[in-house]
Amino acid sequence: MELQAGVIMDWARIEEAVREAGGMILSAHLEKDAIHQKTGPANFVTDYDVQIQKFLISRLSAIVPGCCFFGEEETEGNKQSVEGYTFFIDPIDGTTNFMFDYHNSCVSVGLSLDGTMIAGWVYDPYTDQMWTAVRGQGAFLNGKKLRTEDRGLGDGIVAFGCARYNDGGVDLMFDVVKELYLNSLSIRNGGSAAIDLCRVASGSNIAYIELLLQPYDYAAASIIIEEAGGRISQADGRPITFDRGCSIVAGSFKAAEEVRRIVRNAKRIG
Ligand code: IPD
Ligand code: CA
Ligand code: CA
Repeated sequence: MELQAGVIMDWARIEEAVREAGGMILSAHLEKDAIHQKTGPANFVTDYDVQIQKFLISRLSAIVPGCCFFGEEETEGNKQSVEGYTFFIDPIDGTTNFMFDYHNSCVSVGLSLDGTMIAGWVYDPYTDQMWTAVRGQGAFLNGKKLRTEDRGLGDGIVAFGCARYNDGGVDLMFDVVKELYLNSLSIRNGGSAAIDLCRVASGSNIAYIELLLQPYDYAAASIIIEEAGGRISQADGRPITFDRGCSIVAGSFKAAEEVRRIVRNAKRIG
């Protein structure tokens, strides 16, 4: 990975900021009037999502001066553009889980340079699990190097995501989920795409599928999966995009191919 001339990245300081942001999820006391509705059904933002994104923008701009931000929430400094060094921030991935005290949410921060993801951090404060990756240097879970095993669907758990506010492909999704259920050991819907994608990297999930996600949902996890030796693409096999959202299929190479085939066949039937 070529960093811009003269730029030395302080990965440890970035990780520390992400960990601190996770601490803000743990110490939150969420009142009803801190929950707000966004566009579409069951699409929420809490004051904590906004507060954590503001905290990260302030910390990360001090670490990488002049960087851009592509964050989920509308806060000052968030441009949602992909230029030079760009941090992709999902301050709380799993907001609905957070609202219902489900203890399955995380902070997700990816860093790209000129549109290529070069590093990622996903921190689940409830389990104190920190997934990290820097391009060319491998992926880690709490410091332990990850290596995705090339097993097939029949050897593992498959996770999927679907959001009520993106229910356009709901029939296709549930046809696919039925096939995944019949062809795997079990299926899960955890409510945090970033955690479920990182679980592909660390082997708890053999594959993951969602028909529409946004760059801040998968930016960090995408490099963690790739550095662990897994595969992430759109459902039709095209490369994922960072300037706009897309479908996501991730897994071991074998399992991801099986998921993509199931999607193709479901489209033919539907
Ligand atoms: C959502 C979660 C969920 C996925 C949705 C995402 P949010 O992110 O990752 O698991 O199914 O598509 O939008 O809104 O909790 O940050
Ligand atoms: Ca998200
Ligand atoms: Ca979020």
